[in-house]
Amino acid sequence: MTIGPKRTLARVFDRVADAYDAGRPTYPDEMYRALTEVSGVDLDGATTVDVGAGTGILTRALRARGSRVIAVDAGAEMLARLLSKGTDGDTAALRADGNALPLTDGVADLVTYAQSWHWLDPVISIAEARRVLRPDGAIVGCWNLAHASQADWLAAYEERLARACPTYWGPALEEWSVPPIAAAFEVVEERWIAWTRLVGIEDFLLDLRSHSYMAALSSEAADELVALQRAELQREFPEGVLSVPMRVYMAVGK
Ligand SMILES: C[S@@+](CC[C@H](N)C(=O)[O-])C[C@H]1O[C@@H](n2cnc3c(N)ncnc32)[C@H](O)[C@@H]1O
Repeated sequence: MTIGPKRTLARVFDRVADAYDAGRPTYPDEMYRALTEVSGVDLDGATTVDVGAGTGILTRALRARGSRVIAVDAGAEMLARLLSKGTDGDTAALRADGNALPLTDGVADLVTYAQSWHWLDPVISIAEARRVLRPDGAIVGCWNLAHASQADWLAAYEERLARACPTYWGPALEEWSVPPIAAAFEVVEERWIAWTRLVGIEDFLLDLRSHSYMAALSSEAADELVALQRAELQREFPEGVLSVPMRVYMAVGK
């Protein structure tokens, strides 16, 4: 069981909460349409437990679509960013371990893990999700990923990260794959949703700083790597705006 080390690693995000809040992209509208279609759960009026909610990227989007959301995160700084944006009576924020949800059985229509399930215990987390779900509820894992094989500049960017960051985990590694959440489900449907992110170079570099493999570097090494990436991106995109091929991987299961 790896809960201890993973919980320590999870706190890495508290060190980069500002960069995460400012730099990470939202999820495309198509993902929410697919989520409803595949899960059979209408977001409007649903109760969702958003595990590893972080700064609230998914929480806010679900709330905007009419879901009541219970946002759960282990990181105080990440949750503080979520709360700083303001919440209404239909959003609750709990600082808690997603492997031991402080919720009663059968309260949720959806349990979501947006870029977070891989930080939790793969077996205990899903048992917890099943416990808090209503019988016709669904569990959703989703990851918003740069699609490196679609653009040479992006593949080269990822290669530089792989070379510089000892804990890098991403498409530049041959052994990389999406987290195996689908294998944890008895019934599952998977979707890949392609989209394009238009983003300024400085915002893209803020996003870079919010990754756990960057937070694990010394500040000098992180600054050096950001400077290198900035120079390469400015050479490639002198107008200062990147068009980043992205794809969401989503698995919906029971
Ligand atoms: C990559 S962030 C994802 C944030 C957000 N869901 C999003 O889509 O951007 C992962 C989050 O999972 C949280 N986390 C990691 N392990 C956790 C655990 N055992 N219980 C609850 N939250 C956890 C971290 O604190 C972090 O905020």
